[in-house]
Amino acid sequence: MGFMLAAAGSAVGLGNIWKFPYMAGEMGGSAFVLTYLICMFVIGLPILVAEWLIGRRGQKNPIHTMEDVAKAEGRSKNWRWVGIIGVLGSFLILSFYSVIGGWATDYIVIAAKGSFVGMNGNGTSQLFENFLGSVSHLFIWHTVFMFATAFIVALGVGAGLERSCKIMMPGLGLLLIGLVVYAALVSGPAFEQAFKFLFTPNWSAITGKAVLAALGHAFFSLSLGMGIMMAYGSYLGKDVNLISTARTVVILDVIVAILSGMAIFPLVFANGLQPGEGAGLIFVTLPIAFGNMAGGTILGVLFFIFLTFAALTSSISLLEPTVELLEEKTRLSRVSATVVSSVVIWALGIACLLSFNEWKQVTLFGKNIFDLLDYLTSKLMLPLTGLGTIVFAGWMMNQQLIREELHLGPALFALWKFLCRIVIPIAVVAIMIYGFMPQK
Ligand code: PHE
Repeated sequence: MGFMLAAAGSAVGLGNIWKFPYMAGEMGGSAFVLTYLICMFVIGLPILVAEWLIGRRGQKNPIHTMEDVAKAEGRSKNWRWVGIIGVLGSFLILSFYSVIGGWATDYIVIAAKGSFVGMNGNGTSQLFENFLGSVSHLFIWHTVFMFATAFIVALGVGAGLERSCKIMMPGLGLLLIGLVVYAALVSGPAFEQAFKFLFTPNWSAITGKAVLAALGHAFFSLSLGMGIMMAYGSYLGKDVNLISTARTVVILDVIVAILSGMAIFPLVFANGLQPGEGAGLIFVTLPIAFGNMAGGTILGVLFFIFLTFAALTSSISLLEPTVELLEEKTRLSRVSATVVSSVVIWALGIACLLSFNEWKQVTLFGKNIFDLLDYLTSKLMLPLTGLGTIVFAGWMMNQQLIREELHLGPALFALWKFLCRIVIPIAVVAIMIYGFMPQK
């Protein structure tokens, strides 16, 4: 149970509620959603199992785990690079994750002031635009969020926070369901339009870019390719059934994302907003619902509190690998290691938050700093480390032992080998090539 909470706490976060809908909106809806669902179950689930399996064998941090397990299987210790790129990925992701976590936290206060009351799409868009333009605001809340993350990690009280998830997560789930029901009741035909947008296959919208984005998001959403799940695997008892646990985490993660999409897109269509609005999508749409429903102020405050907690349980898992590495490689104490890592990540986060206003024009390869960090991690680093993990599990490890460890019957074992050895590696490589090809 404690393990499930930690794993689900890391997986469910801003990725599901903030990132999933805005990416779906930008990438043409169903083309993204359907590929994301396939990627979650066909690619994400086996990689999640593989990360836990390797982590349980290695019993160390991801870099040493990869090294040790590789050595035990008689393989090169260069496999540790999977762990190294993973830690670097978590470091980069946290820098922008904290900025968005800060938005969620600030929206608790904005909601509490009753700012959403009676607002329409124009109002919420204006509110968000002013919000983004205020560097000092973004700065303060990014700092608050990063401080909270560092505080929890430094004191090693992550487990306590995860326990609070027992209340927060169901709360978040219930509120999301409530928002979907509200959307269904008030937005009339826009609800149907949203449903079609998200789920009716629209093959022409399937581009290399959308498919790569969906793959990257599956990794992001399940916290894969960063050694995080691998590190969690070291806490797993021998008797835990990895496959059924992984299935539960994936299903939960998907449900939260889909609910979020179903709550948001009816509002988009009913209020004449753009699905491709970008990173501000949930902050522009959900306040319309809270501003016009009975008890909306309280519910809005609660929603952003729950969202902030979900973000915190993910951000602590993002900070942990860097801190552990620093603790191990230097003579720093846990507290000092946390302070040093957090300050560097926080500083990078400042560059990232400026890319929403003052530094909007500062671009590299046509992308601002936020987009660049997101691109580099989700579309390049995570798929690469994911690929490394699955190739390692499928080709480098003793398959008979894995079979016993996973309690696989003959059919499932054949499926496991087919997925890990052939389907996933080919799919990931093909998607990356397809995604990086010049787009029409
Ligand atoms: N999975 C988290 C989310 O969806 C984000 C995250 C990514 C956490 C990578 C840890 C590692 O919000």
